[in-house]
Amino acid sequence: MSVTDEIKARLDLVEVIGEVVPLQKAGRNFKGLCPFHSEKTPSFIVFPESQHWHCFGACATGGDVFTFVMRREGLDFPEALRMLAERAGVQLTPLDDAELEARDELDRLRDVNRIAAEFYHRLLLHTPEGEPGLRYLEARGISRQTVATFQLGYAPDDWHVLDNYLRREGIDQEDALKAGVLSESESGAVFDRFRGRVLFPIRDPRGRVIGFGGRVLDDSLPKYLNSPQTPLFDKGSVLYGIDLARDSIRESGTAIVVEGYMDVIIPYQCGVTNLVACMGTALTEAHMGALKRITKTLILALDPDAAGLAAVEKGISTAHEALEHHIVPVLTPRGLIRYEEQLDAEIRVLTLPDGLDPDELILQDRQRWDRLVAKALPVVDHFFERARAEIDTSTAKGKRKAAERLLPTIAVLPSAVERSHYIQRLARWLRIEERSLWDDLRQLQRSRRRSPQRSERARAPEPVPATRSPVRTSANADQPAAILEEKLLTFMLGYPELMGDLIMDCGMDGNVFAHVENRLIFERLVHHVQEHHPPDMEAFYQTLDSDLLAHVESLLLRLQAEPPLSPDSVREGLVKFFTRLQKLRLDGLLREMNDVQKDAQEEGASERVREIVRTIEQLRRDRREIDRRFYAATLTGRSKRGFES
Ligand code: UTP
Ligand code: MN
Repeated sequence: MSVTDEIKARLDLVEVIGEVVPLQKAGRNFKGLCPFHSEKTPSFIVFPESQHWHCFGACATGGDVFTFVMRREGLDFPEALRMLAERAGVQLTPLDDAELEARDELDRLRDVNRIAAEFYHRLLLHTPEGEPGLRYLEARGISRQTVATFQLGYAPDDWHVLDNYLRREGIDQEDALKAGVLSESESGAVFDRFRGRVLFPIRDPRGRVIGFGGRVLDDSLPKYLNSPQTPLFDKGSVLYGIDLARDSIRESGTAIVVEGYMDVIIPYQCGVTNLVACMGTALTEAHMGALKRITKTLILALDPDAAGLAAVEKGISTAHEALEHHIVPVLTPRGLIRYEEQLDAEIRVLTLPDGLDPDELILQDRQRWDRLVAKALPVVDHFFERARAEIDTSTAKGKRKAAERLLPTIAVLPSAVERSHYIQRLARWLRIEERSLWDDLRQLQRSRRRSPQRSERARAPEPVPATRSPVRTSANADQPAAILEEKLLTFMLGYPELMGDLIMDCGMDGNVFAHVENRLIFERLVHHVQEHHPPDMEAFYQTLDSDLLAHVESLLLRLQAEPPLSPDSVREGLVKFFTRLQKLRLDGLLREMNDVQKDAQEEGASERVREIVRTIEQLRRDRREIDRRFYAATLTGRSKRGFES
């Protein structure tokens, strides 16, 4: 049994979920209000027997205890694993020395940051040296309460206050340097990094300080000095304010992304609490990763240039290739639209009036802010508005320019209805025939499809280097779902370039996976394949935590034992494995829903029964559609090699 299975076996899902979601017994199962979207009648059900949960309402998603705490607490997989292992009393395979050292170091760096934040906060509030800072913050309209909530601080204009204090506290200077609160000159002199600045501690989603931003009190430059890149602090992925905004983002169902510290703090004080800041950098995949666990609606209240939106409009979608792979801006047309599609999310753009930041706007006129939020436009509409404002379309050249600007974005829309909608709109605006736009659009789509060089014969990659394997000690050979899941994943890992079209065609999503490691690898690989043409597996492996990597490695070894397959047989295999998993899952859900229906009938809740019947009918329709797809795949493959083993 793998560690995750063991943890699941020892924990009671009803108890874990029951601590955060009030659950009511309903027959054999439990129901409650879904914690992931707002609703008035419970459509969130916990099934004690199979130990999984499912939301039959707006989310239409489900999972196990791992996916629940990951979503609910905003944890990543290793964090969830550690937390639940501890709770279940399951011993994870001991970390090796290097890993232990790395973990200790992170703990020490967090300590340094926490101690520095407390020190600067006290200095601001309770010493004469802190007065300039306090006066500055007051002048910006920040209340004492807010100073406390955000633990704002002040670093006096002195080279050694913090250095001396940390020494007295017994902090190792190496750690303080590594945490970035001290700096070192060329000649080796050590001094305080932040001097004469108000300080904004930057916290992770769990509220632990990981770095600082420091603002000057006047117009000198640089305006802000931030912590350097450290093992804790990565400016390209941190969202300022996420710890305080998380619950409010969940409740309101919307996250608003702004640029700066002040843009989070002042609105928070005014009661607008679902804001996070990307700290002046382009919005990246890592930012999205943090947000997508808690919301499906994002409003970008960013300066378009800073956010990379300007690049999007100019059709520059590869700017990110120059950056390290973990800092991938998502604001490419594909990135944005894929994100919307994949997560069923919506991204809107809020246009700020010239020269006003959210903080100034909210202080001046709260209602105007609310109106702007309400009027935020879907991404494509936003691009249309900008193009309208900037391009004179009375000339042939202007029309061409407008078409060139907008067509690439329209081309990547997944829905034919939406493509058609925007083509019509563009044609009306430019007063030209729709047909010529369609021609250009198809041209674009063709050249896109041609560009990645597809290898004729797919080849298995080298296995990744060996790492410890705390998660999976053996494949659960007795479970058909587990075998199917691993076969599917093995194919995907071996032939990633063949997955592209299937993801859409089969409506592939991670819900079909019963095993959390399989599900996470699947979801990340799908994401990778959608973002990288051709897929770059080395880069993909690097995005995996060591726990998942170890599992991937064992799958790749299995792949090596098999003869290479033709692309057609791989495609067929992928469709078949996936549809079988879908069937297994739907059959399970249907059985469970029948129980749920009986319970509701006994309760005499007629409105609810109707709702459940509708859900069941939908599940049956899905089931038929899957059957159809399965047989189609089988037929085309009949004359070729079989996949049944
Ligand atoms: P802004 O220049 O818009 O600053 O940069 P701001 O947040 O509006 O600050 P105030 O209102 O003038 O005090 C937005 C964000 O970009 C980052 C910071 O995170 C800042 O909040 N930034 C900006 C830096 O990191 N360094 C800088 O020198 C400037
Ligand atoms: Mn500002």
